[in-house]
This record gives sequence, structure tokens and C-alpha cells, in this order.
Amino acid sequence: MDDLFSQPPANPATRIATLREELERHNRLYYNEAQPEISDAEYDRLFRELEDLEQAHPDLADPNSPTQRVGGTPLEGFQQRQHLIPMLSIDDVFEEAEVGDFFKRLQKNLGADQIPVTIEPKIDGVAVTLIYRHGNLDYAATRGDGTRGDDITNNIRTIRSLPLTLGEDAPTLLEIRGEVYMPNAEFAKLNEQRDEEGLPTFANPRNATAGTLKQLNPKAVAARPLAVLAHGLGAHEGISFSNEDDFHALLDRCGIPRNQPIWHKDSLDGVLETIRELDTLRHGLPYQTDGAVIKVSSFDDRQALGATSRAPRWAAAFKYPPEQKPTLLRDISVQVGRTGILTPVAELEPVPLSGTTVARATLHNESFIQERDIRLGDTVLVHKAGEIIPEILSVVTAQRPAHSQPFSLHQHLGGKCPACAAPIERRENAVKKDGEDYLVLTWWCGNFECPAQAVTRMKHFAQRKALDLEGLGESVAIKLVESDLARSPLDLFSLSEEQLANLLLDPAKLQSGEESKPRRFGEKKASLLLASLEKARTEQPLAKWIFAMGIPHVGEASSKELARLHERLTDLADSDILKTIRNITDFEAEQRNISPRNKEIPPKDEAEKEERQARYNELKEQITALQDSLAAKQISPDVGPVASASVLDFFESEAGQHVLERLHTLGINPRSDNYAPDPTAASADLPLLGKTFVITGTLSAGRDEFKNLIEKRGGKVTGSVSKSTDFLLAGEGGGSKRDKAAKLGVTIIDEAAWHDLLGSAS
Ligand code: IVH
Repeated sequence: MDDLFSQPPANPATRIATLREELERHNRLYYNEAQPEISDAEYDRLFRELEDLEQAHPDLADPNSPTQRVGGTPLEGFQQRQHLIPMLSIDDVFEEAEVGDFFKRLQKNLGADQIPVTIEPKIDGVAVTLIYRHGNLDYAATRGDGTRGDDITNNIRTIRSLPLTLGEDAPTLLEIRGEVYMPNAEFAKLNEQRDEEGLPTFANPRNATAGTLKQLNPKAVAARPLAVLAHGLGAHEGISFSNEDDFHALLDRCGIPRNQPIWHKDSLDGVLETIRELDTLRHGLPYQTDGAVIKVSSFDDRQALGATSRAPRWAAAFKYPPEQKPTLLRDISVQVGRTGILTPVAELEPVPLSGTTVARATLHNESFIQERDIRLGDTVLVHKAGEIIPEILSVVTAQRPAHSQPFSLHQHLGGKCPACAAPIERRENAVKKDGEDYLVLTWWCGNFECPAQAVTRMKHFAQRKALDLEGLGESVAIKLVESDLARSPLDLFSLSEEQLANLLLDPAKLQSGEESKPRRFGEKKASLLLASLEKARTEQPLAKWIFAMGIPHVGEASSKELARLHERLTDLADSDILKTIRNITDFEAEQRNISPRNKEIPPKDEAEKEERQARYNELKEQITALQDSLAAKQISPDVGPVASASVLDFFESEAGQHVLERLHTLGINPRSDNYAPDPTAASADLPLLGKTFVITGTLSAGRDEFKNLIEKRGGKVTGSVSKSTDFLLAGEGGGSKRDKAAKLGVTIIDEAAWHDLLGSAS
């Protein structure tokens, strides 16, 4: 390991190859074996070194380099790939008797009593084929119509658990068939986030996966956690297999993740037993399964059995009945979210489903309820999306009680917020689903002081992804609000240690079933919380603060992008970038409206048509000019029209203004740690943009301090001197790097020269 971090050898090609191999090995250790050998920081260092080298040596670029997993430029559309071997389907069977028929057919056609077969879960994902040539991922494609599919190589490359290179052992050609999926837990997180941001949720992990793979922008794919499991062999050259186990051994040697668990049986009884065992076990797997695949193990036997035009005769899929159960909708309760959004929740007669008892299910919003005409007292069919999220699929209308009424949230709540009794407001939210605009009807509590909102806002503010306030979970947030010690997150900054320590929490349930005495928050926890508040005040970067503010439609990714574009929180509140985006959106709306070709509002006569055309052209010019002014910033879709408008609305609102004043009084103005608004052009704010530094020797302050200064000004610091290094900042000592820099003609500066450089640059 020491070897890897020490000075690179003179030959960049060798160094690049070593780094690529090592980074892939660490990917495997981290993602597939959960046994990392190096820290994240060390990984990042190697990664950056490789990035630098690749930048300096464009001739050594490789699409399968680990640096390419973060996603490149968006595509215009997917290219088509002709499959080397058709991607067949599997014959489905639904009854144990049909499994018997299948097994007897095998016995008859192969003339044997015992037939070695494997049984494995059928993954409910999206089929993919992966072509490796000479150990390198050549391309990846979807099934398409079975003969031709979409080339989704760039999207597949973002899946870190999948090796892009296979090493020494790899045959000349290896086609792997497998399934791309979104792990259940990640699916749940994604949907929660989308729900919170007012976006339509995905019905199940398969839809989320398919939707993600259809993205033309691989960066958007890289942000979504997909995984892949191999389950089959396609075309191959330079290797032969006698059975499924041989094939699995190769997958393991190459580090390609494969479908597990897997059973080996050779009798019908054994197969049936396994199918039943898998039915209970599958709910514990991290992905969706809808069946058990039974495959003849011997490849000679497969050859002998052959295939129909649709499916091979050597495999069958036993499909488990979908897990859905009828139950009674007893009531609809309503939760108040952080932004005041009111979310209806179904209170169900408890029913066992996919391994747990389900008693509640989210109903998302009023549109969801109305589309399905769900009514109180209905018998409803429930299932679990992604094995996790209970959801109502439909109503059993035959069992509907007489005189039931369509559900109205307003009526149900008597027009009042269930937490603070303020009048509720209705808003229509336009969202895109499958490329189409549609309206979601939501109800809100408009009272910014609502205690339920205060609690969820505080929880949101304190979570690790936000300001990471220690010990501030839901129960503490409730007590702080109840006791009136803190009504809004910013009130936290005025609390004393004594106030916090004396906060009374609910009694705990003891093991005996009795309750403990009321507990105090206590001195120790109080001082930890105060320390993390102080850290939030002085150190937490802008991105975390933006996320923590809980502005609607502004999630983690948007917050990071906003912090890249703005240096201070106060810049954000008065942002020209966001205003420009808002203006573009407004102009575009006007343009659509007044377009002489608008079929809904056609021009009355020729004169109006001309007038509208003139305005249309004018707007077009303005839009182009505004877009040009933003082009160099390469703003990601995370900061689009919706998020931009939402941020501006917030800071222009009374509540937002109040927040700004409070922050000012508290002396809080968080600073961005990833500020780089103009990634292509050097600007006055970023005098060191594009410059690469290496730091060595002993300086008057820690290296991290210098690194910070350089990065703040748009420069970059790497660990080793190469041709792409612009400056070596050298203190006392630092011999070998100094020699290397001298040899390569890299400018060497001492601290005095460094100050000159900063002076002249700013
Ligand atoms: S073996 C000739 N094993 O299900 C096809 N397929 O409905 C042999 N699938 O196209 C495929 N899990 O994409 C196999 N463990 C598994 C599977 C699996 C999911 C998919 C696969 C196939 C489709 C057929």
C-alpha cells in the first residue's frame, strides 16, 4: 500500500494503469465485499491523482477508467445494438403442478430420473446484457424487443459495484446477462425525497430503475443508486463451461456480482421445497423478487433441450402470487410536514403482508385519493412497494358500505390544520410524470408558527445531512417546541446549557412494562448539543445550511449546486443567477402564450398575428441572451426553474426575511466550500482557476490551510508533482518533490512568492 501512495514512477502510462487497477480493486472491496482497505480520503486522493494524470495525457483516456463512472456528457438519444444472441424470455408457471410438468418433461427429454438443476430468486428489475471484450466493458444494452436494444453503456458505467475491467482471467468475449435494480432501501429513500419535494413518486423499484436507465444524462444516473446482478451467460469466446457452477466460478474470479442465494437440487421434491423456502426468505433480500427461476445446470443438457423462438426449454420461472391483501380503511389521519404540507395517511385494520404487519399507508395527497376514489370505511387492497412501503392499490368496490361519500380532505379536517387549527389552504402543484405535466392537489397549513411544522422543521434542520446537531431527534424537538424554548430552528442558537439540561423528556418505557420517572436532557447531552450548534454556526458549509433551511423543492443535490454558484448565504437571497433563471421561465411562459401559433388562443386577425410574432421574436432574443449569460456556469438540472423560484420566493417572503434578519443578528453567514461559479473561464473571484498546486515541506501554517486558500480561489491541490502541476509551493525541506518539479520545469514558489502571487492575483 505504501508503494501506491509514494512518488509515482516516471512513466505516466504505467502509473495510470496502476491507479486504475487499484481504484477498481478498492471499488470492489467497498461496494461488493464491504471490506474497504483505505479511507475515503485516501481513495479521493488516488482518484484525483488519476484525474490529473488523465487530464495531462488525453491520449491515454479510457472510457472504462474509474474516473468515468461519475457520468459524462448527456446523449441526444440511445443508439441501437443488435444482440449477439437473442435475449429470450422464460416460461412462467404459477402452480406447483406446473412445476411438476416441467420437471417431468426434463426427465423424459433427457432420459434420466435425477436432473441437476439450480433454483434462484427471480429479480424484478430491468434486464441488461453486458459485453466484455478482452476483459473490458465494450457496451451494455437493454433487452428491447429481444433482438435489438438501447445502448445504455454510459448509464451502466455509473454502477460502482460492476467491474469495468475483468483482469487477467478474462476470455476474449464474454456476454453477461443480468438484472439492473434499485435496492429497496435506496428506493424508499428516493421516494421519500421525491414526496418531500412534491415530485411524483415511483410505483416500485422496477419503475424507478427503468426511469433512471432511460435518462440521457449519465450524471443524473450516477446520482441514483443502481446495482446489477448477473444471472446468465450469453455469447462467449476463448472459454468453455460445462455447467452453471463453472460459470459462477468465473463470475466470482472476475468480481462480477451474481444472483444469490442459489440452491442445487436434482428431484422434483427438492425443487418444490426450495420454492417454498425461497418464498419466505425473499422478503429479506435487498431487492424485489417475483419468482423462483429453475435452470438445468449442465450446459450439454441445455444444448440437447434447446429453445423455442420465445424461451429456452431448460428453464422455468415459478411466479409467486403478488402480495396484496384486502383490509379495512378505518380512518384517514393527516400529518403536518415541515413546509406545512398536509399528508393524508390511511389507518388500516392491521394485516400481515410480506413479512410484517401493516397498519398504515401513505396516501400522498388528495389527488391520489381521488384518482382511486378511496373512501372511509372502504375495503382496500394493500401491497408493499419495494417490500417496504405499504400502499393502497385499489378499492374493492363490491364491499363498499352504502351511503359512503367521496373523500374530501377539507371536509374531513373541518377546514383546519389538525395541529394548530389555522385554516388550511389548497394548492395545485404541476409536476412532470413520464414526460407529461399533471396536477397534484395538495393542502397546506399556511401558519408558519404551526407547532407541528416547527417540530418537523427542527428535525430536518438537525439531521446529519443538514447541520448534524447531536442529540436533537424527534422527541427532543417536540419537547423544545412544547415548552416554548425553541419555536424555530434559529431559536436553538440562543439556548443556554442550563435551559437545555433541564428540559424534561417523556418517561421511558421500562422492560417491565412500567414507565421510568420523567428524565432530564442532562448536562452532558446539553453541552454536546451546544458544541454542535457552535460548529454549525461557524463551520458548517453553505450547502448544508441551504439544505437545513428546508426550502420546498430544494433537496441535497440542489443545495450543493446552489452552493457551487453562490459564495455566501446572503448572495443566495439576492441571486442574479436565480433571478435570471426565473426571468427565462417567465419569458418562456409569455412566449408560449403570445405565440401566433398558439392553438388555444389564436390571433384574431392578421394585424394581431404580426404584432404577436414581433413580440415573440423579441422574447426569443431576450431568452437567448439570458441563456448565453448563464451558459459558462454549466448549471446542473438540480437548480432548475422550480428550485430557483422556490428559493427566491422563500427569501422574498416574510418568513424568509425574518430568517435573514435573525441570521444577521446571530452573526451567521455560512460560506460555500465548493464555490466555483464559472467552471470554464477564470474570473476575478477565482484568480487561481484551473491552476494545480502541490504543497511540500514545512510552511508557517498547516498544509490544509494553504489548500483551503487555493481551493477558495478556484485552484486545485494534488499530492504529487507531474507535468500538469503549475506551482510547487515549497517550504523547508521537501526534497524529492522539489527535484521532480525542477526536472519537469514546474514553477517552484516559497511562501514569500506565494504571497506575491495571491497579491497580484487578487
Ligand atoms: S435466467 C433465457 N435468472 O427474467 C432467459 N432470468 O422473464 C434465462 N430474470 O429475461 C434468464 N431474474 O431478465 C434468469 N435469476 C434470474 C432472473 C432472470 C430475473 C429476468 C431476465 C429474463 C426475464 C424473463
